Formats: sequence, structure tokens, C-alpha cells
Amino acid sequence: MADTDGLKVAKNYQIEVPFANQTPFYVKGANNLDWGMKKHLSNIFDPKSGRTVMFAFDHGYFMGSTAGLERLDLVVPKLMPAIDVLMGTRGAIRSCIPADCKKAIALRVSSGSSMLNEDLSHEIIAVDIEDSIRMNADCIAVQTFIGADGQLSSIDNLSQCINAGLRYSIPVLGVVAVGKDMERTDRFFKLATRIVAEMGANIIKTYYCENFEEIVAACPVPIVVAGGKKLPEREALTLAYNSISKGASGLDMGRNIFQSEHSLEMAYSIRKIVHEGFTDKEAWEFYQDSIN
Ligand code: R5P
Repeated sequence: MADTDGLKVAKNYQIEVPFANQTPFYVKGANNLDWGMKKHLSNIFDPKSGRTVMFAFDHGYFMGSTAGLERLDLVVPKLMPAIDVLMGTRGAIRSCIPADCKKAIALRVSSGSSMLNEDLSHEIIAVDIEDSIRMNADCIAVQTFIGADGQLSSIDNLSQCINAGLRYSIPVLGVVAVGKDMERTDRFFKLATRIVAEMGANIIKTYYCENFEEIVAACPVPIVVAGGKKLPEREALTLAYNSISKGASGLDMGRNIFQSEHSLEMAYSIRKIVHEGFTDKEAWEFYQDSIN
């Protein structure tokens, strides 16, 4: 019991001051979610810029050891100062990421395919919600295969994660997959992002394409843009700038950061675009100054 000796009388009620916590929540589509969901989303999206820099290093879940990610224990901690969210598998995070790191966690929970398969569109939910809670996940990432052979099971996976996420206030990141034979048109991305959002995902990861601003407008939750195959740094910065200037709420880049010869400088340059309003030209100049 607290020591009650010399207790002061409560009297500072500031009756004339309106209740302070009345502002709408800043993350798109999240206003009606509960406090726990919003707390996780605010770990992901910076309250000042409203955006995020995610670093995707979950490639091993279907690609095994990937060029640039051979030593997760060395590569990921080095990049952490420049990024907001670590997107990885539980195996990679548990074994290679110091537990005292302060970064948000986007935990990859679906898996089931590998580079050895012809058709990568069949996955299962590999990580249950209890382990996501143990991992302190700020969101759980599920691959969706709209228009592919595995569409039905991936929507089932997504829905199971959303139901579990709602039970424990953990947001779901719905990842729109593109297969070898799948179209990468704005028509496809508009359809897929909207379906995944309507299923209840709280964040959508997709690719940049023509008419991207229409995809953003039609999607009721934040979109983060995937990096895709490694591009020359100048082009990757243009991809980042175009995405942000057309309404993306962040980037979720992997190879365009970790396969860069100057990965930390590249991550900081992306950060300038995402959080500080740099153009691609300004970010490129920043990148060049940083490496010289
Ligand atoms: C995509 O579905 C997975 O999350 C990938 O492992 C990751 O997004 C790839 O990132 P990037 O294409 O930027 O290397």
C-alpha cells in the first residue's frame, strides 16, 4: 500500500479546459479501431509524417539465403538506425535481431512455397496469433494471391489472421503478390488492393504502377509500396518518390536497400523522401554526398 502520510488533496481539475484526447487518429481508415490497434499502428507510422520506412528481409521464407542477406545478424542491425519497421520471419527476428531494439515488427506469418515450386501461390498460416503476441508483432503479414490458383486459400489465410488480429488488437498487413504469369496493371492492383482491404487488412503492401493515385484513393487503408527487383539507386529513389508523391504511406523495400553497395546510405536516402519531403533528385544528391 502507498505511503499516505502528507497526502495532497486533489483539486487541479481545470474545469474550463475541454477533454484533451479528442483528435481523430492519423492513420487512414483506423479511426474506428480500438486503442491497442492504434498503438501498434502508431509504432509503424510516424505520428509526424504519417508514413513509414519498412525494411523487408523476409525473402528467406521462400528464397532461402538471398544475395545481400547471407548474414542477417550483421545486415539488419546495421540498417536499423535508418528504418522504422523490421519485416521478417520469426526465425530471422528471434535469432538475429537484438531483443532490445526499439523498431516496430511486421511479422511474416504465411509461408508454404519455395523457389523450387512452379506455382508459388499456395501458402498456409505458419505462425499462430499467440506466437505473434510473444514476438511483440505490431502487424502480421499475410501473402494474398488474387487471381492466382491459390486465391481461395490465401483469402482464407488472410481472414483467419484478421479474425485473430481483431481478437488481440494486432493489425494485419495484406501483401498483394504478383506471380510470373499474373498481370501487373493498374486494373489488377486496383482490384487486388481493394479486395484485401475489404477483407479487413489494416495495411496493404503492393507494387507501384500507372495511375497509382487512383489505387490509393480507392483503398481505405494505408498502402506501402514494395521495392521489387534491384534497380540502379537513382531509379529506386524515383520509384520511392513517385510512390510517396502519389499517396503511398510508406515503402517496404528489401533488395533495393540490402543489395545496394551502400545499403545504409540508401536506406537514409529513402527515409528523406518518406519523412522529410525530399524529391528523388534531392535524395539522389543526398545519397551521392553520403557515399563520397
Ligand atoms: C513479398 O511478398 C515479400 O514480403 C518479399 O520478401 C519482400 O517484399 C520483397 O521485398 P523486395 O521486393 O523489396 O526485395
